[in-house]
Amino acid sequence: MYSVAKKILFSMQPETAHDFAMSVGQKIQNNGLLFDQFKKAFPLKEGRSKDLMGLHFPNPVGLAAGFDKNAKIVPLLDAIGFGFVEVGTVTPRAQGGNPKPRLFRDVESGSILNRMGFNNEGMESMAIRLKQIKEAHSLRSPLGINLGKNKDTNEENALDDYLMSAKHLKTFGDYFVVNVSSPNTPGLRNLQNSEFLLKTASQLKEVLEKPVLVKLAADLSNAELDSLLIDLNKSEFDGLILCNTSIDKSSSEWAKDLGAGGISGRVLRLRSREMLLLSRQRFTKPIISVGGVDSPEEVQWRLEKGADLVQVYSELIFSGPQFIQDILKSLQ
Ligand code: FNR
Repeated sequence: MYSVAKKILFSMQPETAHDFAMSVGQKIQNNGLLFDQFKKAFPLKEGRSKDLMGLHFPNPVGLAAGFDKNAKIVPLLDAIGFGFVEVGTVTPRAQGGNPKPRLFRDVESGSILNRMGFNNEGMESMAIRLKQIKEAHSLRSPLGINLGKNKDTNEENALDDYLMSAKHLKTFGDYFVVNVSSPNTPGLRNLQNSEFLLKTASQLKEVLEKPVLVKLAADLSNAELDSLLIDLNKSEFDGLILCNTSIDKSSSEWAKDLGAGGISGRVLRLRSREMLLLSRQRFTKPIISVGGVDSPEEVQWRLEKGADLVQVYSELIFSGPQFIQDILKSLQ
């Protein structure tokens, strides 16, 4: 079924295709009869369920942040079979992101380059939408909310941005993520230091009283990651998400002339695996492994090597929603 949709979607500019798919998704979700039919097409929901951080995950495969930045199609994503859905990155104030074009894909290497720059409608709009969604639908899977800082908030005031969105969205998320790893917001990745992260974890935990995780960049050196992990393990963070997109284009000839941005998809697989192996030795709390997960076998590999949960993004673009059902079949 996706092969037909893919032909149409891949004939459009990547961002136009994404917006189009999101609007079709919203139409299905808002039409009771259509949505019931849609749910029947995705029968598998369970498979190696997990209880973690005080939450029940019907299966260990989630949708990574950045796909549904404004929480527009959460019930639909829940129905496709994801064991958890992470929305955002959301910032306190709405912002437009970087100039277009800012999203590129390469079918041959199964990879994506993006420099979206946290384009999102802001925390207030997300809160209104999530309130409506929670009133109209019952979600099976936990909902994560990924938090970022506005582009024009300087690094000294970054913590205020995370706290503001957390307070505003507190009742709607089951877990929250501190995103300090997007390469597309200038200076954001400087916040990947122990002093900032330890302070952020303890202040967010005080406000939220819910699981709070931190998402790290693929481009940290192993030495930087190692020393950060020692402190993060003692911090109030409940878990780690590894990893965000990488600015390393050395294995992505197709992206060389496309300008700045972060690479995701198959080309990220080895670095994401390496970060998981390294982190599992140092970090005793839950780890969500993301980056280049492109097959049911890869999901199994991550789980066997110590990932508690796995997330996907890029492969969903290339293989469509059936990809999740294929993974769930393999987990049965
Ligand atoms: C992302 N990613 C991302 N991550 C995040 O924490 N906040 C965000 O807003 C976004 N936005 C975003 C947009 C686009 C177009 C892509 C492709 C990715 C990163 C994403 O969550 C994930 O960490 C990486 O894409 C690696 O996983 P995959 O794509 O290799 O499965």
